[in-house]
Amino acid sequence: TKFTEIKASTYEEMSREAAKIIFNDLKSKKDTVLGLATGSTPEGMYDALSNMINDVDLDLSEVTTFNLDEYVGLDEDNDQSYHYFMEKNLFSKIDVPKENIHILNGVADDIDEEVKEYEALIDEKGIDIQVLGIGRNGHIAFNEPGTSFESLTQRVKLTDETIEDNARFFEKKEDVPTEALSMGLATIMKAKKIILLISGSNKQEARNLFVSGEVSEDLPVSILHNHPNVILLTDSEARGE
Ligand code: GLP
Repeated sequence: TKFTEIKASTYEEMSREAAKIIFNDLKSKKDTVLGLATGSTPEGMYDALSNMINDVDLDLSEVTTFNLDEYVGLDEDNDQSYHYFMEKNLFSKIDVPKENIHILNGVADDIDEEVKEYEALIDEKGIDIQVLGIGRNGHIAFNEPGTSFESLTQRVKLTDETIEDNARFFEKKEDVPTEALSMGLATIMKAKKIILLISGSNKQEARNLFVSGEVSEDLPVSILHNHPNVILLTDSEARGE
């Protein structure tokens, strides 16, 4: 296994370390293409990153972003959509040109066209650094266990476990969409560099399974063992320390 693990102690330290990696990339390449993730885990990183950017007034006018996924059926005004999350946690705080921000449209009339165009745009631009969180079952983006390692951006069904995990953000479990649009595992692997954030004791099992090194479609995150440039960032709870 080739990945590096940065062992932070606290969530705040992990978030800062992750933000530093992205900040340094943005500083060294004005037209960096960022792949971004949602979920509770990267919130601290977005907070630290926007502070670092604003402290030095870093020019982001040539930066492009792609998000991993979006729920089917939620539009950008829905406060549970990933569009809304990104606006709230990052894009309202920093100046990335609106036309450079790409997030899958979960209410597109033609979903097939939507996912095909998204994949083509990723191929055209190329992602320099992709941020990932992880689900308890080892999913990355919304690629649930069993998803083909060859998968490209597509419409996917969520497992009951994922729906239950994400229900905490909704009023009731029934409100959680059962489908999403998601970059595929092969899409994610196209990124030049990947940083995977794992925080909290509820992710300890997934982290240990990943670190143990077995590569299997039953554990989507394990595809990252086939990638040459992965940085894993953990806090002590995720390591069970
Ligand atoms: C969702 C997202 C994933 C994210 C996961 C974990 O399923 N699609 O990209 O990694 O949740 O989220 P959290 O960080 O809130 O545990």
